[in-house]
Amino acid sequence: MSAPVVVLIGPMGVGKSTVGRLLADRLGTGYRDTDEDIVTAQGRSVADIFVDEGEAAFRALEKEAVRTALAGHRGVLALGGGAVLDADTRARLAGHHVVYLSMDVEEAVKRTGLNAARPLLAVNPRKQWRELMEARRGLYEEAASVTVATDGRTPEDVAQAVLDAL
Ligand code: S3P
Repeated sequence: MSAPVVVLIGPMGVGKSTVGRLLADRLGTGYRDTDEDIVTAQGRSVADIFVDEGEAAFRALEKEAVRTALAGHRGVLALGGGAVLDADTRARLAGHHVVYLSMDVEEAVKRTGLNAARPLLAVNPRKQWRELMEARRGLYEEAASVTVATDGRTPEDVAQAVLDAL
């Protein structure tokens, strides 16, 4: 069976795609990202899908995109920040090398700020970040085999820490 070498999870803005691409380079494998898979398949942005069809519809597309990528991609796979909200997805992650890239709330606010392209942060990012992290931290930890803290570190450092943890 073909399976990802490593799956990256964690909140939006933590650097999953930057670190994921660095890792893929160093491992000599491909890089794939479920948000990109959804955007390609749907022909519109994540923000547009949220606005046009709502979050539940996006989550259904995401669940399917994760299932497909976990079954068919040998390389580095990054999941959207909310993918772990789905219990089936969390169960499906068992047995994979799943790395949780973490950051604290202040780092998250600093890195993402007000971000219209990220619909979950469009208003009052600090409050939304706090609520998001409280709701999701346990889910990330449950789904991950390893946690790598990213606060104050460069993407290169984080990629090296992930490699060391594999
Ligand atoms: C989301 C994270 C985003 C994207 C969507 C929802 C979330 O992905 O899937 O905006 O719920 O945290 P990234 O983590 O790749 O930004």
